[in-house]
Amino acid sequence: MNSYTVQKTIRPLSGTLCFPGDKSLSHRAIIFGALAEGVSEFTNVLAGEDCVCTRKAFEDMGVRVESLSDTHLRITGRGLRGLQAPKKELYLGNSGTSMRLLLGILSGFDFEATLTGDASLSSRPMRRVTDYLKQMGARIDGRDSGNFAPITIHGGHLEPIRALLPMASAQVKSALLLAGLFAEGETAVTEPSKSRDHTERFLSFFGGRIKEKDLTVSITGGQALQAKSFAIAGDISSAAFFMAASVLAPGSQIRFESILWNPTRTGIVDVLKRMGVVFEMGPYREEGPEKIADFMLKSGELRPFEIKKEELPRLIDEIPILTVLATQANGRSVIHDADELRVKETDRIESMVTMLSRMGAKIHAQGNTVIVEGPTPLHGAKLHSFKDHRTAMSLIIAGLIADGETIVEGLDCIQTSFPNFFDLLRTIRK
Ligand code: S3P
Repeated sequence: MNSYTVQKTIRPLSGTLCFPGDKSLSHRAIIFGALAEGVSEFTNVLAGEDCVCTRKAFEDMGVRVESLSDTHLRITGRGLRGLQAPKKELYLGNSGTSMRLLLGILSGFDFEATLTGDASLSSRPMRRVTDYLKQMGARIDGRDSGNFAPITIHGGHLEPIRALLPMASAQVKSALLLAGLFAEGETAVTEPSKSRDHTERFLSFFGGRIKEKDLTVSITGGQALQAKSFAIAGDISSAAFFMAASVLAPGSQIRFESILWNPTRTGIVDVLKRMGVVFEMGPYREEGPEKIADFMLKSGELRPFEIKKEELPRLIDEIPILTVLATQANGRSVIHDADELRVKETDRIESMVTMLSRMGAKIHAQGNTVIVEGPTPLHGAKLHSFKDHRTAMSLIIAGLIADGETIVEGLDCIQTSFPNFFDLLRTIRK
């Protein structure tokens, strides 16, 4: 489906929803399963295109990945040094996580591989990882001195580094920690604020040892990882669209089940609470390296919110849907210094400001700061996704509260992270 027409919701939304596996966790499950010794099994793995790209890349490097169902994978690990040179280019579609994490891993292997992607991925900055990997000893070629795909990498003998990152980025941190697994000695990565910590959790859970102190994570190279099996938690970034729908349609009763509950990812929950939303939490459970929770939301009048730069990494993927929520809050919401949004699958400041303005929202950007005045009634409009999955889904949710008919075009991109988005939308509108 490449275009969708959404009418305003007049009735409250209801239902019990389980979400596809978290995208960040699904990538890492495939990566760690491939590098571990032994056979790992994961259920509720995201079958979205991004994770399929990661899977195919490892299969192209000799890793056996069996589908026991669409979302249940059995991976026979090849151990730390066991990947084979790919016979063709590794195509990573739209997935920045696949490309950056693979660059880190491939810098540990003495063979050549070329990484390619779609037009969006080929315009996203890779220098943020390739400069460090070159310092560690990898040979890297690509447009603009290894900044843009296609990128050819030839790794091998790696020296450890101490990297002081200019931006908080889990992709960069993870690429360097994974490269550090192959370096001789201790690699340390320091961020300006803490980004999602899944790689650190996976490293420990699969039997590796890391050290964490304040904003620095260190790893000593050469450690073997052991296979593990677990269920992947529901994606909190996908659930965020339905959390917003639940808040925006008064009287809604949506139950969220088995959602990833990791403090480096629950920034959206904190902002919703500041807006006045009440979370009724079910019991927490451990699932492999992560915690999961069930919950329901209760909301009334919405307060505006402010998000400072330090908080951004904990909700970086939720900014598009938060701009939609801000249009209905009672006052001025401000998202400060969101420069990282400019280099996502599309420029998400540009996409949300232009599309929500078209619906009548009072939203503008001052540099990289986004300002939204609410509450404003939205009206239906003809919109496009900028080929970005999170922009697309945010606009569809905005359409639920807009008068008249909203048409969103360019929706194939939703397949990258949330293949059953429309099924769940139908469930809550019944
Ligand atoms: C991701 C990290 C984030 C996020 C992306 C997934 C990850 O990117 O936006 O969707 O799995 O490590 P950055 O770390 O570059 O901000």
